[in-house]
Amino acid sequence: MEHTIKLKVNGISYDVRVQSKRSLLSVLRDDLGYIGVKEGCGAGECGACTIIMDGKAINSCMVLAVEADGSEILTIEGLSDGDNLHPIQKQFIEKGAIQCGFCTPGMILTTYEFLKRNPDPTEDEIKVAISGNLCRCTGYVQIIEAITAAAKEMKSNKEQ
Ligand code: FES
Ligand code: FES
Repeated sequence: MEHTIKLKVNGISYDVRVQSKRSLLSVLRDDLGYIGVKEGCGAGECGACTIIMDGKAINSCMVLAVEADGSEILTIEGLSDGDNLHPIQKQFIEKGAIQCGFCTPGMILTTYEFLKRNPDPTEDEIKVAISGNLCRCTGYVQIIEAITAAAKEMKSNKEQ
């Protein structure tokens, strides 16, 4: 069965015709072209497909597109402010927290939602927050450094 759903992605409104069984991940990537949303396991285990839906970080492979009808979505393509990268993106680059880059959009969006809830996290809290996002390359050390540095930068930006 087909349905028309409404999505707002990175501030842009869409009406999309979708079959009931399509995942939100496949609609974002294949129909709307947001290829920063990565498909890893397709089973809710790797976090590569993480997006922000109505303020929450979710695995878009585990949500049907019809379930997302009417929602507001943020993908990695919408995180920077024009050419100005978000502090989390900047710190991932500066700390060398990106190697192949496959996990990076999901890792950054998970971090974005986490730092909104917990702007001054401990290392252990960071580890728990990113435990659903798998990285095959970095060994996580640089990722944790990048998140710590991003939290500091965002805090000092707020205080200015
Ligand atoms: S692709 Fe969605 S969690 Fe792995
Ligand atoms: S940088 Fe390659 S999977 Fe994380």
